[in-house]
Order: sequence, then C-alpha cells, then structure tokens
Amino acid sequence: MIDELKKEIEGARRSFIHELESIQSPEQLAALKERCLSRKKGVVSQFLARLKGFVPAEKPLAGGAINQFKEFVETALAEAERTRGAAVAAKGEWLDPSLPASELPVGRFHLIADIQRQIEDIFLQLGYEIAAGPEVEREEYNFSKLNFPEHHPARDEQDTFFLEGHDDLLLRTHTSPMQVRYMLEHKPPLKIISPGKAFRKDDPDATHSPCFHQVEGLLVDRGIHFSHLKGTLEAFCRSFFGPDIVLRFRPGYFPFTEPSAEVDISCFMCGGDKADCRVCKGTGWLEILGSGMVHPQVLRNCGIDPEEYSGFAFGMGIERVAMLKYGVPDLRLLYENDLRLLGQFG
Ligand code: PHE
Repeated sequence: MIDELKKEIEGARRSFIHELESIQSPEQLAALKERCLSRKKGVVSQFLARLKGFVPAEKPLAGGAINQFKEFVETALAEAERTRGAAVAAKGEWLDPSLPASELPVGRFHLIADIQRQIEDIFLQLGYEIAAGPEVEREEYNFSKLNFPEHHPARDEQDTFFLEGHDDLLLRTHTSPMQVRYMLEHKPPLKIISPGKAFRKDDPDATHSPCFHQVEGLLVDRGIHFSHLKGTLEAFCRSFFGPDIVLRFRPGYFPFTEPSAEVDISCFMCGGDKADCRVCKGTGWLEILGSGMVHPQVLRNCGIDPEEYSGFAFGMGIERVAMLKYGVPDLRLLYENDLRLLGQFG
C-alpha cells in the first residue's frame, strides 16, 4: 500500500511541475495553488485523508512522503509568486524572467562589409590607421593632383559621373583621392588604408558594376622603397588568402605611381596545377591589385618634398577579392541581396 501511495505522489508531483510550467497568468497560479493546497479538496488534503487506512507501522512513512510533497509544492508556489509577482509589479505584465528567451533570427554582415573588415583587421595589425573620405569628390583630388594628364580618357563624361551644374565635382572613380586628402592634411610618416565606394560609368555585367568598393593603402616616410611595398603586400596576401601564397609583380601603369605594378597571387585553389581550374582558368595566377611607389610629382602636389620622403600606394577591389576568395561567379549576385546566397557567408 505504501508503494502505491508513493507512486501516486510521484505522479501528482510531475503533473504539478507540468502545470506550473505552463502557467500564463496570476489567476492560473492562484487556481493551481487552490487545487493543490485547499484544506477540503486539495490534492495534499486528499493524500492526508488516506492516512487513516494505513497500519500503524506504515503511517509514519506514508505521512513523511505526503509532507515532503506538501513542502515541495508550497516552496515551488511561493517561488513562482515571488518571481512572477515581481515582474508584474515592475512592468505591469506577466513574465517569467527565468524562462529561456525565444529565438530571434540573427543578422550578419553583408559579404562585402565582411571582407572589408577582414582586410581592415590585417592592416590594423600592421599598424595602419583607417581614414575614410567622401564619395562626392573634387575633380582636382580625383584626377589633377594624382597626375592624370588633361586629356586622360578617365576624365571623360563617358567614363565618370560628374555632378550636374558642378564641373569640379564628381563621384570618385577610385579611392586614391584619399591619398591626396591625407597628404594635404598630415605630415609624414603616414600609414593609412582607406576603404569605401567608387563609381564608374560601366554597364553592369559579371565583373563590372557602376558602384563598387575599394581599399586604398598609402605609406609615406623617409627611406621607403619598393621592397617595403613587396613585403607589405606579401604579408597581407598570406594572411588573407593563405600562408603558401606567392606574389607576382608585373609592370603596370598608373599616372600617380612610378614605378607601378599589377600584383597577382598564385591561385589558392589549384596552386597552378590544374588546367581547368575554375578560379584561375588554368593560368595559375589571379590579378588582385594595383600598386606602386608614390610619384614624386604627387608628393609635390601635396606639399611633401620627394627629396626627403618616399612612399608606396596600392588599391584593391573588395568585390574582386570576395569573388575570388569565395568563388562567387557573378558580381551582380552581391547586390541582389538574396539571403540564400548571402546566408552562406560570415
Ligand atoms: N586607383 C587605382 C585603380 O583604381 C589602383 C591603385 C591604387 C594603383 C594605388 C596604384 C596605387 O585602379
């Protein structure tokens, strides 16, 4: 008989816990208390009423089990009244702060913003500062001070968005005008990167967009030469793409650097071993940025004496780097904001 009672008490205890967990209002809590502890018909009283039927030897055991249950119920109810009552008093609403929070969808950075932050992190570790500049730029900073000759095709309305009614204002075609802005306002040593949007009159296709993102880099100090540029870009590329990456510098041309170099990295996908590699198309190399030593005339244009100082600069496209690193086949995918694509990164 005692075993049967214990089983029933255990059943009552479980259904009590279950009911307590699903309580939604103070009224429901009061009703549960009534059902368990009311003197006449409460669950505990009903167990106590059965004590009479036990033989003297079993009575203490049965009484002990019932009392234990009673104490458990009383303590749990008092605790529930205290915590939920406090919530009602504080906020006028019924709330159990001990319940786990309901899950909310968590956002994350867009792939372009994420890559930008990865690039920033690496250069911050190399001691660079981040300097942001305006997207609407003076033609003087975007072109003239960067040594673009008067009739350079990039200055044409075909290629560049000029602002209506303002011949001297345009949407910057690259982040390089930040070199000018920074050099005009600061004395060397200078060590900055400048991420941001750039704009060109390109028809959108798999590799072009009228608006895209770049990260510019600039370092000016005494005694800076090409090996500093090489070492810096090598450190960046190995950190970003992988420790085994090899760099290739090809002669290039930019009006604001001399000498200039286009930089390729060895294909991180196939290492140059696969003729049908979808990332490097079998060439073994990937072009990732433009760079060079800051042209002495540009230093002069910005009030820095090229006899005393020298520097290097580089610029890379964030979309291009993102597409390479994650195998995104079409640039436009990055702007469509389809979560099925964007949700795969970050
Ligand atoms: N501004 C150049 C471009 O947009 C890249 C570059 C930056 C090249 C700095 C050399 C130095 O193509």
